[in-house]
Amino acid sequence: MSQTPDSAVRTYIDTHRAAFLDDLAEWLRIPSVSAQPEHADDVERSARWLASALAGTGFPVTEIWPTPGAPAVFAEWPSEDPDAPVVLVYGHHDVQPAALADGWHTEPFEPVIKDNRMYGRGAADDKGQVFFHTLGVRAHLAATGAAAPAVHLKLLIEGEEESGSTNFRALVEAQAARLAADVVIVSDTGMWSETTPTVCTGMRGIADCEIELNGPDQDIHSGAFGGAVPNPATVAARLVAALHDADERVTVPGFYDDIAVLTDAERALIAELPFDEAEWLRTAKSHAASGEAGYSTLERVWARPTAEVNGIGGGYQGPGGKTIVPASAQLKLSFRLVSGQDPYAVQKAVTDWVAARVPDGIRHSIVWGAPTRPCLTPLDHPALRSVVRAMGRAFGEKIRFTREGGSGPAADLQDVLGAPVLFLGISVPSDGWHSPNEKVELDLLLKGVETTAYLWSDLAENWKPASASASVPTAG
Ligand code: BES
Ligand code: MN
Ligand code: MN
Repeated sequence: MSQTPDSAVRTYIDTHRAAFLDDLAEWLRIPSVSAQPEHADDVERSARWLASALAGTGFPVTEIWPTPGAPAVFAEWPSEDPDAPVVLVYGHHDVQPAALADGWHTEPFEPVIKDNRMYGRGAADDKGQVFFHTLGVRAHLAATGAAAPAVHLKLLIEGEEESGSTNFRALVEAQAARLAADVVIVSDTGMWSETTPTVCTGMRGIADCEIELNGPDQDIHSGAFGGAVPNPATVAARLVAALHDADERVTVPGFYDDIAVLTDAERALIAELPFDEAEWLRTAKSHAASGEAGYSTLERVWARPTAEVNGIGGGYQGPGGKTIVPASAQLKLSFRLVSGQDPYAVQKAVTDWVAARVPDGIRHSIVWGAPTRPCLTPLDHPALRSVVRAMGRAFGEKIRFTREGGSGPAADLQDVLGAPVLFLGISVPSDGWHSPNEKVELDLLLKGVETTAYLWSDLAENWKPASASASVPTAG
């Protein structure tokens, strides 16, 4: 009986689907919330669970890599061909906080399957998209009949992506030799929609800060003193109001210096997508589109930098009035960044801009979080053609290109390892990342499995990276 490779892959996936979903559900039951210290043990448990699942999959090397924060998981499965490309898959095993009270219909850490979807925190972001690599590599081996994958496969699954990947770059630097790769595949993004499969080709970076403004040493009477001393809440509001001009461009001097300008070809790829503004607004749960003049909505979200007010506070917020000049006010700002912007240069420009605007009598402090750099895929890279072919085989459709407005530490891998970053994800906008009732579409999840089953063969057949022999993993 002869089977084409595609039907061998599909048969393998069908046969193992139930066990695969059971295993994923077991992992989703571990509340690996990296932002909440009370879940630190759960994040550790999630790392151990994954390492053992990867060992069970057949990875001869599985290790837990501690960091000063949450642990990462590393796994490696060398190819039998020493010249095969070395591929490093990146994902994360930590998740965003979730509680039933936030509006979940079922317990966030008790996954349920309903209407061919698995609901649970992390189903799409990112445990589901990490886990499809386990069945994917098994299906790949079933189709090739080989004992090892066609590429040297490495996995690095970090444990603190949802809290800013604070220790990630240092970990990658310390382990650069073990992580050496010809290409990095980030498995933590999405597609355009259920019916328009796409490959993401870029993510924005982010720099975020908290600003504290202090005026009087305590709340003071606004009739006795107001109008004659500076009010920190007014200063906070003025800062926010001055952040954008009438064209919704960010006013901080130097903010747009050196940014990668969208080429006509890139704009054409974006314009190819079936964008429907009313539908997009429904997904955004928003009531009007607005943003930088001269750019489409998708260009604004994917390829233009932003300044966003994430929080503003100060003064009396309780019921009724309270006639005071408040002692303090607070702002939380974040800046999404695009290629060409250096997060540290943006931090300095904003810090100087704020300092120049705070009047006498108001003290201020500005504290920056760990920034994330923007990252773009080289559109002419041969490995990108492999990803597009493999996805095309799995989905049976033309594959188009998107970007993501969100951020992740992909650029650190690119910088430190000197390898191009590609993105492979099957999540869709309705999956509800970071929201109540996060889910993953099971058909798409299994298309992810199928894509990787083809991808490793396609890469090995169609691409001989010049550096392959320099980065062969050492045995043992
Ligand atoms: N996987 C997301 C990034 C993402 C968001 C990709 C939307 C594609 C579409 C990642 O887990 C994430 O949530 N990143 C945070 C980073 C932050 C916590 C530093 C983000 O983008 O806000
Ligand atoms: Mn993610
Ligand atoms: Mn996330």
